[in-house]
Amino acid sequence: MAAEVGAGPSPIGRMTTPEGIADPYPVFDELRAERPVCRDDAYGVWVCTSHAAVQQVLSDPTVSSRRSEAYWDADRLPAEVRATARAVYAALGQRMLMQDPPEHTATRKVMGAAFGKRAVALLRPRIEALVDELLAPYAAGGSIDVVADLAVPLSIRTIAEVLGVPPDDVGRIGAWAEDFATTKDVRPGEPDREAAAVRGVEALLAYLGELVGRRRAGPPRDDVLQLVVDAADATGPREDARLAANLAGLLVGGHDTTTGLVSAGLLSLMRFPGELAVLQDDPGLVVPAIEELLRFESPAQWILRTTTRAMDLEGSEIGPGQLVGLFLGAANRDPAVFAQPARLDVRRRPTQHFAFGRGRHLCVGAPLARLEAELVLSALVTRYRRLEPAGPAPVWRPNFAQRGLARLEIRLSGR
Ligand code: HEM
Repeated sequence: MAAEVGAGPSPIGRMTTPEGIADPYPVFDELRAERPVCRDDAYGVWVCTSHAAVQQVLSDPTVSSRRSEAYWDADRLPAEVRATARAVYAALGQRMLMQDPPEHTATRKVMGAAFGKRAVALLRPRIEALVDELLAPYAAGGSIDVVADLAVPLSIRTIAEVLGVPPDDVGRIGAWAEDFATTKDVRPGEPDREAAAVRGVEALLAYLGELVGRRRAGPPRDDVLQLVVDAADATGPREDARLAANLAGLLVGGHDTTTGLVSAGLLSLMRFPGELAVLQDDPGLVVPAIEELLRFESPAQWILRTTTRAMDLEGSEIGPGQLVGLFLGAANRDPAVFAQPARLDVRRRPTQHFAFGRGRHLCVGAPLARLEAELVLSALVTRYRRLEPAGPAPVWRPNFAQRGLARLEIRLSGR
């Protein structure tokens, strides 16, 4: 039987209230049990919350990743920002993330090599040194905001270094990343929030354009920026808007979600102290445990696709040209696939989680994200005997699409 179309309050609206952001799981569980594929008229999106539906969409080669035109609408913004918004959204729509083959294939090949396991393994000593530097003030223990003092500087400085962003410019990335994340989280009726974010992304794209220009004008260097610029320049006419947008995707994709993994992952371990103790007793389990932390609190909560033909999804008939939202955090807690999904179990091997997506757009930065998480979590569980919540209650970022904390105070003690 087809799910009721657009019936009841907006499902995404329920997920994006402050309560929904702090704990979206009751809404996910209800939708998955009652209407695993349903329509959200306010957003113009089909909402998929079951593992089976997400799997079906991600493995269907006819489903397109192009969605910018359908999702973003500059006309809903104040007149003075519309032209900027059109240009920004057109550029963001050219990222590899929103391309299908054959356009996607060539860029993916370059990025896949730049961020592949082998290339990333070479970064290990540098990231270790960064973790040491960030934890040095806490050598004797103390309270740390793991977001501001650890996860954010670790992920921003790592990806900035990899991309060849000069150290003096690193301080500007955080605010741009926030604006970029907001463009993924725009909600109906928030034109001012969206307009401010568009201006921030415009500045980010302009900055990256300058960075590319400076690189072309200067001597070549042995880094990812050079690789990406050379590959783009070799493929034909210069498409600098696309290049800047892809770099923005790497810079922000490389920072935001990794911060979410480290911060939400640590909060999960605080909430399940028995599981934290398992890692402290056997730090060798940190690497596999990261997969469970990704499953349990997925940093990318939803991704979008567009149908190109009619599809039957869990009994719902979806026509061509429809936006389909894949709620990864909901699929990752589907009891049909994961036993006792609301329980964190660091010994679980959740190989079927979707935290990095699946298929041709599987996260290109997954090896880097896993390495950063490994090094920071290993340092924490081996260097401190006790990690406990401290200070004010944890605060979630006010962004549903990018799950993670805005602040998380932890007391570190006992070597
Ligand atoms: C825990 C950290 C991360 C999570 C949870 C995550 C999540 C994801 C997901 C779900 C996708 C698939 C999107 C889709 O299919 O529509 C994706 C793609 C992507 N991610 Fe990540 N990501 C993380 C870290 C990173 C890092 C560190 C980088 C950069 C180095 C990065 C860059 C990208 C890029 C460029 C794509 C697009 C790939 C393509 O279109 O082929 N991500 N990521």
